[in-house]
Amino acid sequence: MALADNEVETTGLVGWIDRRFPLTSTWKKHVSEYYAPKNFNFWYFFGSLALLVLVLQIVTGIFLVMNYKPDATLAFASVEYIMREVPWGWLIRYLHSTGASMFFVVVYLHMFRGLIYGSYRKPRELVWIFGCAIFLCLMAEAFFGYLLPWGQMSFWGAQVIVNLFSAIPFIGPDLSLWIRGDYVVSDVTLNRFFAFHVIAIPLVLIGLVVAHLVALHEVGSNNPDGIEIKAKKDANGIPIDGIPFHPYYSVHDFMGVCVFLFIFAAIVFFAPEMGGYFLEANNFVPANPLQTPPEIAPVWYFTAFYAMLRATTDPFKIVLMVVIGLLGVFALLRARGKWRLGLPVLAIAVIVFMALTESKFWGVVVMGTAVVSLFFLPWLDRSPVKSIRYRPLFHKVFYGIFVFAFLLLGYLGTRPPSPAATLIAQICALVYFAFFLGMPFWTPRGRFKQPPERVRFKSH
Ligand code: HEM
Repeated sequence: MALADNEVETTGLVGWIDRRFPLTSTWKKHVSEYYAPKNFNFWYFFGSLALLVLVLQIVTGIFLVMNYKPDATLAFASVEYIMREVPWGWLIRYLHSTGASMFFVVVYLHMFRGLIYGSYRKPRELVWIFGCAIFLCLMAEAFFGYLLPWGQMSFWGAQVIVNLFSAIPFIGPDLSLWIRGDYVVSDVTLNRFFAFHVIAIPLVLIGLVVAHLVALHEVGSNNPDGIEIKAKKDANGIPIDGIPFHPYYSVHDFMGVCVFLFIFAAIVFFAPEMGGYFLEANNFVPANPLQTPPEIAPVWYFTAFYAMLRATTDPFKIVLMVVIGLLGVFALLRARGKWRLGLPVLAIAVIVFMALTESKFWGVVVMGTAVVSLFFLPWLDRSPVKSIRYRPLFHKVFYGIFVFAFLLLGYLGTRPPSPAATLIAQICALVYFAFFLGMPFWTPRGRFKQPPERVRFKSH
């Protein structure tokens, strides 16, 4: 029988398996004969690091569950028991809590790479969309997990976030009751959050990561030059600028893993609380439903979005209504076909609805839209080149302002609110949305450099 392209003749045990299961062909397709561009740089470490942290979280999570008690009367004490009595329990717990923060560090850097090299553009839209779905899942996973130690911050954080849903018109109060399963965050809530944290979300997360990688391997990796290596192949159909993932990038990524683990271990052993950013002081106090802590702030990875939520005050809602009105006028002047009337009518409807509903609800909408906007990036960016390397200077400036606004939002979200901080957060929120909404207009403009025919690569 003739062998198909990706099949191989193997003998012995591997041969026995190969005749029953696509072991060698899968290894070749995804590892030893997956041709990745040879010009990967620092930014390409974070995909494999995200995989590493995912595995670390699952393994440490399994060991934590062996001693954790998902019961409101026992949860806090069971975590203390893990920290003090269980052999190496403190290490497992710190690996898991540090892992949660480092997951976001790695994923934010991974997303930033996608942003600067245009890795979300055709044909990688699905890779990006799966990535955005992963990001949403990760946020849900972190939120559910944070309730489990049943400290003051766990309790009040969950209370605040679940209460946000009650701001949704008509269904809100019933919805938040349904999520909690009780009138306040209670043992019932803890049990369902536990179920979501340890099984439901991780299953979805793993499924999405597999889909993310399958989609990536279908189209091939992008690279810092943003040009398609598949456009230039040799006589055997192998991209001229491609090198096999194994051994070249397996060794390269292994080095990244070593450096990462070095930093990771330093945090775990010397600063697991990270000055209150990774583990908040208030969470070492058992949950007390009768005593609200003076400052309720989420963990750092949520603070940029939280700052947008807090920034949505009544006056800011009016600013948003004016912006939507202006967009309606713009559509009336510039849009074509059915959009010409449809969009202005939609804008008026939204403005009326906004006038009738409270700003707290719009805070939730703003926060949600900030995350959902990411999904549309592949269609918002209309630049003729992918990589930032060949874009005009003003594009680079816009990216810089966007990142600065996002970081500033993140910082402001960790601080107590003040009128000045709220104003700055409002400006940053507008910058954030202007970046995305304005993309169809500013990304095709300016003088672009001609990307090279072949990837730029200097051997070491
Ligand atoms: C658990 C989280 C994640 C894991 C384990 C993961 C894993 C990976 C891996 C292993 C790669 C290939 C290596 C690399 O290009 O760095 C990759 C590529 C990619 N990922 Fe992720 N990823 C995750 C989250 C995300 C998120 C949140 C996004 C964006 C919203 C994203 C967008 C992308 C894109 C666009 C690529 C292709 C990059 C290119 O070819 O230039 N990923 N991912």
